[in-house]
Amino acid sequence: MNQNVENSLFIRAAQSKQTERPPVWMMRQAGRFMPEYWEIKNKYSFLEMCKTPELAADVTMLPVDLLDIDAAILFSDILVTAEAMGGDLSFEQGVGPRFSNPVRSKADADALRTDVVDKLQYVADAVKETQSRLNGRIPLIGFAGAPFTVLSYLVEGGGTKDFKKTKRLMHNNPELAHLILSKITKVTIDYLNMQIEAGVNALQIFDSWAQALSWDDYEEFSHRYIKEIIAGLNRQNVPIISFGKGSSVFAPLMAEAKPDVISVDWNANLRTLKDSLPAGIAVQGNLDPYIFYADKEVIKKRIYKLFDSMRGVDGYIFNLGHGIMPDFSFDKVKYAVDAIKEYRY
Ligand code: CP3
Repeated sequence: MNQNVENSLFIRAAQSKQTERPPVWMMRQAGRFMPEYWEIKNKYSFLEMCKTPELAADVTMLPVDLLDIDAAILFSDILVTAEAMGGDLSFEQGVGPRFSNPVRSKADADALRTDVVDKLQYVADAVKETQSRLNGRIPLIGFAGAPFTVLSYLVEGGGTKDFKKTKRLMHNNPELAHLILSKITKVTIDYLNMQIEAGVNALQIFDSWAQALSWDDYEEFSHRYIKEIIAGLNRQNVPIISFGKGSSVFAPLMAEAKPDVISVDWNANLRTLKDSLPAGIAVQGNLDPYIFYADKEVIKKRIYKLFDSMRGVDGYIFNLGHGIMPDFSFDKVKYAVDAIKEYRY
């Protein structure tokens, strides 16, 4: 790893080392809340942007240049693996991701391909292109979806509020659910190892829909696959961040999968949760993203209160409990980043 990146606030915090202030990056930091994102988005489709390394690098660099955050996250999507496996993926304005060929039967599951890492070469190329632009300025985070979250999109054929089809599958036909999850897991291990090989400095696994699961079902249908993924990575020095909505409840299981960092949603008291984890696991989070609808002073006060509570902790990265929303004010997000950079423990 480049010397400057190795000594960066983000990498040090991810390795549970001391930092003078919390490093900051935000989920969905390159996106629709930025006018500059729309300038690109108006010319290309979302998938074109993901699949063209120069465009993916352009978008990845927007928050680096405009917000001056402490880590970049590669512009892509958690569903590109599912597309490579055979999902017919599209993103429609206002609808979100859609698969026109949802996976619901044994035949559908059998048709999913697992030798697909070559099809995802564009992501490795985007990592290389972005790293050449970053030139050691800050670390680059790569990512993938956790198998349960990816499964839910494949089975539902898109986003869902009630997970009806996913739960029907899990409970009525657990063998089939496990077959699909195993296939996603294999692809995800190859895919993340490809990203490490291409030069990412950290990886985040997104289990956005873990919150839909009971403790037992989380253990059976999510946790064991995340554990298998983390165990299957050629980690070298690359810290692994495990994010889940529902993470404040599932943190003890998440810790057992042995990530370097657990990214926590905003329901938890972060300090209490951190103190309950085994030593050597850092935490990331956990500002309520919807604070950004309040006034600047309120936002700053909440952030500093969170930071004051984390004093004396080695291993804390600031983030939101979930992603930036398209209608957040860029000006307020920038204000928050500046306030974070002024803070000292
Ligand atoms: O964080 C970043 O800035 C990096 C890029 C990134 C995107 N998606 C860009 C994106 C990352 C890390 C993701 C992960 C992702 N994708 C997750 C996990 C994180 C989370 O938010 O829970 C999930 C569940 C997805 C699936 C997905 N992709 C959804 C549900 C949507 C639609 C969202 C919506 O509100 O419409 C997407 C599309 C998407 N992914 C956009 C972006 C910038 C919007 C695309 C557009 O401009 O239309």
